[in-house]
Amino acid sequence: MATMESLIGLVNRIQRACTVLGDHGGGGMSLWEALPSVAVVGGQSSGKSSVLESVVGRDFLPRGSGIVTRRPLVLQLHKIEGQSEYAEFLHIPKKKFADFAAVRKEISDETDRITGQTKQISNIPIQLSIYSPNVVNLTLIDLPGLTKVAVEGQSESIVQDIELMVRSYVEKPNCIILAISPANQDIATSDAIKLAREVDPSGERTFGVVTKLDLMDKGTNALDVLEGRSYRLQHPWVGIVNRSQADINKNVDMIIARQKEREYFENSPEYGHLAHKMGAEYLAKLLSQHLEQVIRQRIPSIISLINKTVDELNAELDRIGRPIGVDGGAQLYIILEMCRAFERIFKEHLD
Ligand code: GDP
Ligand code: NA
Ligand code: MG
Repeated sequence: MATMESLIGLVNRIQRACTVLGDHGGGGMSLWEALPSVAVVGGQSSGKSSVLESVVGRDFLPRGSGIVTRRPLVLQLHKIEGQSEYAEFLHIPKKKFADFAAVRKEISDETDRITGQTKQISNIPIQLSIYSPNVVNLTLIDLPGLTKVAVEGQSESIVQDIELMVRSYVEKPNCIILAISPANQDIATSDAIKLAREVDPSGERTFGVVTKLDLMDKGTNALDVLEGRSYRLQHPWVGIVNRSQADINKNVDMIIARQKEREYFENSPEYGHLAHKMGAEYLAKLLSQHLEQVIRQRIPSIISLINKTVDELNAELDRIGRPIGVDGGAQLYIILEMCRAFERIFKEHLD
């Protein structure tokens, strides 16, 4: 029996291969779409980027009080052995980023390359992989925030544009939704829950996340939500305390932030009894367990998709000829070999 980590790691590798494969035709994309990913959905400044960072356990995403996330970010986490940690962008192949502050700067620069330094939004995703011994294997998608009105410098259609973009990710049956609602706003009117309910009425792929618990008015708490009384979801709600803007300004690091979050729950008179089911680390664990379950159910259909891709690649190779040197054909050949290897491993997982 394979462990959850190796299974999810395998899927991450396939998704990577399929990203390359996608450049060679439609076959790769369908394989990519068959595999699960996790997207964050919520209003502007609800804490989406902060939650993602905290699940990853590394500081690397641009975040802040303005409209910071203006392009989708498709982030693949790969757990590796050893000590060193690095990141790679699809748009800068072969460059390894060891400095995560440089990763954040590149996301921000690459956002500006398409949108300019404006408040406009682009639906062209940025693709980033992080290799680290300290992550669980997951594919995560950071998305621009849902908004209710256009601001200066944005087109009138921005509200619908963003909603359509977000919807295009979360309506896929393979997308697990992290619906982010800040505790200092009314959760019943949360944009995240509204959209999640529309695309996932049964709630089987929606995780409700309440951020900013530390910012609630004194004398109020989110227990009715966190304990599932206000709004029932299939999965348990998870409460989060991310870094405040003051923490970000002071460069409070992730380890300290997680420790503070743990202490917040442990010492809280309201949430103390839930402390073991709160926080970003617990959310990462829940997600990982859920992914494993989903992937196991999908293995048979993934195998048939791989077979289809192998057939398509073989047909393509018959057409252009088998490779001799390193050219497009050689690349296809390597991908074909990868697909065959994946298929063998998947079959082993089925047994
Ligand atoms: P996004 O726009 O939804 O991606 O939200 P960000 O992650 O960029 O966060 C927006 C702002 O809210 C930042 O200033 C964060 O520091 C702040 N913030 C997010 N989550 C929390 C939280 O749990 N507590 C506090 N105090 N501030 C938070
Ligand atoms: Na923001
Ligand atoms: Mg953001």
